[in-house]
Amino acid sequence: MKAPEAKAGAFLTDVKELRRQARIHMERGAVTEGYQGDRKTVLALLNTSLATELVCVLRYRRHHFMATGIHAQAVAAEFLAHAVEEQAHADRIAHRITQLGGEPDFNPEGLASRSHSEYVEGGSLEEMIREDLVAERVAIESYGEIIRYLGDNDPTTRRMLVEILAVEEEHAEDLQALLQKP
Ligand SMILES: [Fe+2]
Ligand SMILES: [Fe+2]
Repeated sequence: MKAPEAKAGAFLTDVKELRRQARIHMERGAVTEGYQGDRKTVLALLNTSLATELVCVLRYRRHHFMATGIHAQAVAAEFLAHAVEEQAHADRIAHRITQLGGEPDFNPEGLASRSHSEYVEGGSLEEMIREDLVAERVAIESYGEIIRYLGDNDPTTRRMLVEILAVEEEHAEDLQALLQKP
């Protein structure tokens, strides 16, 4: 049986070469020679996701302040909790965009058309919950697609989106539970 060191040695790129490369391209920050993603496409996808999250923040906040009726208090609190989490997602995505050498697009002009999810005001409490559920389902679909697209080419972005996706699924579950309230 071969020593495990020999196997590891064959697998890993020469450490000296690795360090040399890291120094040469230091201005690229977190993006190294080994980055396998199509940076331009990944940045475009992340900016679309950023727009989606920002629209979700605005829609949930609007719903938080507009919630009235018999179940309003609990639902309004849920809307606010979701808004806060969507903002955290937007921040994580914006940070990843800068890590990859891009610029997060916070331009309010065209925000709604860059977003996958829609900004629907909703009349009644139930309408708001339904619209939020639709938006969550759109987000779940689009994150799933981006995650599949990334595959193994950008594990950091992929992991971040997998974590965000799990929260969107929780949001959808919360909203569905609210709709089932008597
Ligand atoms: Fe989100
Ligand atoms: Fe969400």
